[in-house]
Amino acid sequence: MSFQAPKGVKEYIPPQAEVYQAIRRRFAEAVGRAGYGYLETAVFEDTQLFARGVGESTDVVSKEMYTFTDRGGRSLTLRPEFTAGVVRAVLEYGLHRGQLPVKVWTEGPVFRAEAPQEGRYRQFYQLDLEAIGSEDPAVDVETIAVAWGWYASLGLTRVRLLLNSLGCRECRPIYRARLQEFLRGLDLDEATRARIEINPLRVLDDKRPEVQRQVENAPLIGDHLCAGCKSYHDRVRELLGDLSIPWEDSPRLVRGLDYYTRTAFEFDHPLLGAQSGIGGGGRYDGLSEAIGGPALPGIGFGLGLDRTMIALAREGVELTVPPRCQVYGVPLGEDAARRMFSLVAGLRAEGIAADMAYGGKGLKGAMKGADRSGARFALILGERDLQAHAVQLKDLTTAEQTEVPLAQVADVLKGKLS
Ligand code: HAM
Repeated sequence: MSFQAPKGVKEYIPPQAEVYQAIRRRFAEAVGRAGYGYLETAVFEDTQLFARGVGESTDVVSKEMYTFTDRGGRSLTLRPEFTAGVVRAVLEYGLHRGQLPVKVWTEGPVFRAEAPQEGRYRQFYQLDLEAIGSEDPAVDVETIAVAWGWYASLGLTRVRLLLNSLGCRECRPIYRARLQEFLRGLDLDEATRARIEINPLRVLDDKRPEVQRQVENAPLIGDHLCAGCKSYHDRVRELLGDLSIPWEDSPRLVRGLDYYTRTAFEFDHPLLGAQSGIGGGGRYDGLSEAIGGPALPGIGFGLGLDRTMIALAREGVELTVPPRCQVYGVPLGEDAARRMFSLVAGLRAEGIAADMAYGGKGLKGAMKGADRSGARFALILGERDLQAHAVQLKDLTTAEQTEVPLAQVADVLKGKLS
């Protein structure tokens, strides 16, 4: 019997996996330049963390969590997102007692039991960034700018930034009640009617045309913001303008997680069809308190790596990935193989990416390996070379070949590769 990965689990296999890694690396560089430190948090958490943090009425918590009981009888859940766990870790390790905002990022697999299709998986991958402890519109815009710059650095040109404000604990309850009143008067199915009572904002987000048609004239949060939220949102827009980041006001954007307050945004890609949300985030000023911490406002985002990979393909962007191997050893005969083995190890120790032909391959097979490796140079070592303490250095782009003393190989290569 043979095995396959569980349904809906996205995996990356070479050579595609190298593109995947390259785009993550680029993100690490971009966020590093903006002062965000890396943090690694638990892959599974106390189920209650998500119930309280993300919200019991959300689809993510009520329908999509991978929850299990461990051997000690505890209810644990594979993280369906990063933010609740990151805030939990910030509180647990007391990072919020130092300089604010705490600026951190993380990445890895997240798990949601959704119906799998292209761009929607059960194990998928996010890049996550959070700035915790400041209520300053400049921080909101900084996070957006980091994501925007990353998309641009990948060569994506069709990403759209959709922006809304979801209000605060002052103005949102008033809006929520007005919206409920409006929605109760519509002709909706039972499940949607139930949703009006638990999570009315999500009804606005319902993609079905018969629902969309009816909510067209629904009251909008933007018309119900308190003075504080309104000026905060205006400032966010001004600062986006200062950075020349274009956005589209999206008055119905609500996001699928309960912790959001004020700024909410999504990155959308028009070539992705139904799964067009390639990233999203926003402010979550009440999350820390919801999970038992002090008042600690925060903002952040999660970017979907899988959808970003699809967006790159749809836009026809080919990222240049540095070759895994710079130099490839081609030993001819057993003695040469042994000498090449330590030569390759020595080159690696000198910082050169090196590989070699294994398994006693002949010249032809080994040279094929050199070509496939993507290496710029082959080092060919025969019996005669061994006696002369030298090696043939072949430039695989020009086919030019020179003899180099074994003792000088690393230095010569370093010169040629720099
Ligand atoms: P989210 O919008 O639920 O936000 O997810 C962020 C991104 O993850 C989405 O925009 C999408 O690209 C990707 N994504 C979501 N579900 C799937 C799936 N089933 N398959 C593939 N990709 C998916 C959050 O998770 C928040 N924690 C973001 C955040 C951080 N807000 C504040 N800080």
